[in-house]
Amino acid sequence: MTKKIVVTGGAGYIGSHVCVELINAGCEILIIDDFSNTHPEAVNRIREIAPGNISLLQCDLANAAQAEEIIEGVKAFGADGAIHLAGLKAVGESVAEPARYYTVSAMLTLVRALEAANARTLVFSSSATVYGELNDNPVKEDGKTGPENPYGRTKLFIEEILKDLSRGNENWRIVNLRYFNPVGAHPSGRIGEDPNGVPNNLFPFIAQVAVGRRDKLMVFGDDYTTRDGTGVRDYIHVSDLARGHVAALDYLSAQKTGGATDINLGTGTGYSVLEAISAFKRASNRDIPYEIAPRRDGDVAEIYANAELAKTLLGWRAEKTIEDMCADHWRWQSDNPDGYES
Ligand code: UD1
Repeated sequence: MTKKIVVTGGAGYIGSHVCVELINAGCEILIIDDFSNTHPEAVNRIREIAPGNISLLQCDLANAAQAEEIIEGVKAFGADGAIHLAGLKAVGESVAEPARYYTVSAMLTLVRALEAANARTLVFSSSATVYGELNDNPVKEDGKTGPENPYGRTKLFIEEILKDLSRGNENWRIVNLRYFNPVGAHPSGRIGEDPNGVPNNLFPFIAQVAVGRRDKLMVFGDDYTTRDGTGVRDYIHVSDLARGHVAALDYLSAQKTGGATDINLGTGTGYSVLEAISAFKRASNRDIPYEIAPRRDGDVAEIYANAELAKTLLGWRAEKTIEDMCADHWRWQSDNPDGYES
């Protein structure tokens, strides 16, 4: 097991859960986060759930003026590898303000830092969004890629850059994890998703309706060719997803040669929007009023993972059910109705 791991974006939704799983697996971690879209309280909560050796570097990877501080910090930490999660993630915003999304320099600063520390092991937070709508379900890693917005393209471009790195230097060991739809929260209810402003994604929106912060949910389209007409996605519990990162690091440390491998992290099962609403209703025992609205631009009808490669290479599979996802998401939302500001 790689021991000293840098986690960029470690205070974020996925990052905080990854930190907990790394500590539980015996790692020491250095969180690099600028708190632009995250909350410092998340770091306190990580320390509370998983006491361990956690350092923090408050820096922006995309800020050239901070690059040297980051490189020195990673070197001084004595990193063995990194998990790169820092980045913006709102699809609509990426269409309106693409320049804020094409910050490939952030990734390159991390690469320089890992080279300086002689630690060429990297797990990258990619997304199923790289597939677009070009494949039959369940989608395999060798499916066609065709992201439909700048956010998705940045994920694909960075995957490609990392593949070039591994071709250039055989010491680079890289896994691009293509996440399906992470939802839920740590079962303690102490960390979870805390979106700024109006949530873009389904689960945070449902949860805010259930807790009374919003009146109703808009269901984007009921005329897809799916079993009930609403969009189908492969929702995966964020703690399962986080364990997948630990498994990816274990896999990389066992490799004799370098390389870059794309791996889906999903459950392999799709649920529709209406099925997700029903499951959340059962878990929360709250009413979730909704209205059918027009389709959202850029949405695909249905996408779910073929998750066999993760099983074969990483010995990992998702364990938690949609009921677990809803129960844990609800615990986080009801214990922290206003997120970390509660
Ligand atoms: C979205 C992003 C994807 C990103 C992922 C991160 C788009 C087009 N895709 O995935 O690139 O990696 O989030 O988690 O934004 N829905 C509603 N009402 C809502 C919100 C969503 O009906 O208020 C529906 C959507 O139409 C979709 C499903 O719920 O069918 C899931 O949506 P969402 O949670 O936003 O995830 P994705 O769109 O799959």
